[in-house]
Amino acid sequence: MQQEATRLLQAGNTIALVPTMGYFHEGHLALMREGRKQGDALITSIFVNPTQFGPSEDFQAYPRDLNRDARLAESVGVDVIFAPEAEMMYDQGHQTYVTLDALSLYLCGPSRPGHFRGVATVVTKLFNIVRPQVALFGEKDYQQLAVIRRLARDLYFDVRIIGVPTVREADGLAMSSRNTYLSPDERRSALSIHQSIQLAQEGVAKGIKDARQLVAETSGLIHSHPHTKIDYVTLCDPETLEDVKRVDEPSLMALAVWVGHTRLIDNAILTP
Ligand code: PAJ
Repeated sequence: MQQEATRLLQAGNTIALVPTMGYFHEGHLALMREGRKQGDALITSIFVNPTQFGPSEDFQAYPRDLNRDARLAESVGVDVIFAPEAEMMYDQGHQTYVTLDALSLYLCGPSRPGHFRGVATVVTKLFNIVRPQVALFGEKDYQQLAVIRRLARDLYFDVRIIGVPTVREADGLAMSSRNTYLSPDERRSALSIHQSIQLAQEGVAKGIKDARQLVAETSGLIHSHPHTKIDYVTLCDPETLEDVKRVDEPSLMALAVWVGHTRLIDNAILTP
């Protein structure tokens, strides 16, 4: 991959990179379509990164289908798929990691210790291997996008980070490779995540500013559906991710909810 990147760069191409863990859905493909416009050469990486999964998380169960992914990537104009083995990305003596101080403490940080360290480390490796001028990430993983923007800045990666809006199913559920874990019953309950954000959005539009009230209404709607367990519902500053008490400025509503054994996340900016 490093040799191919050198060849592409020496021939005067700009490289756009879409990092993924595979099992593509329309969200991944939206990133690739945007990447197709942004670079001469479009590269996507497929790597289920072990270091971003906790010991009790779904690393083994995470869905994989490289042949299907290759077909889909080709259909949206991907030039190169980089799908390394775990031993290649982390050899035996591996011991260097990238960590962020504040950004990884909020939202998903407490319930997924080490997760953003794994993400930041693998993305740093991918940037060093592929050397993209442009890299695309989904707003669905809002905190991840914030972490990567910060890391690119802090480590002087000469790469433009582009955020792509969340792609949803027709009924509003944010697309995710983990949606395949949901039973039909759980799938119905999962819809409450998006509906509850919409409820908060309506509340803000009606003039409700108190974060606690908005969070309570959001949580109430989710709780009224079976199989759900809230990890967090937060209203926070879109840049620092610190909690806000009032929605006087555009604020991020971010949530993580267990539906059965599946943990789902979603978010939206609420604008007064
Ligand atoms: P993965 O979950 O496969 O997601 C790859 C990219 O697709 C991420 O940037 C994610 O935000 C984006 N994405 C996922 N669902 C989306 C949706 N419904 N709409 C828009 N974009 C969506 O995120 C990861 O992999 C990994 O953490 C990775 C960055 C590859 C590092 O290992």
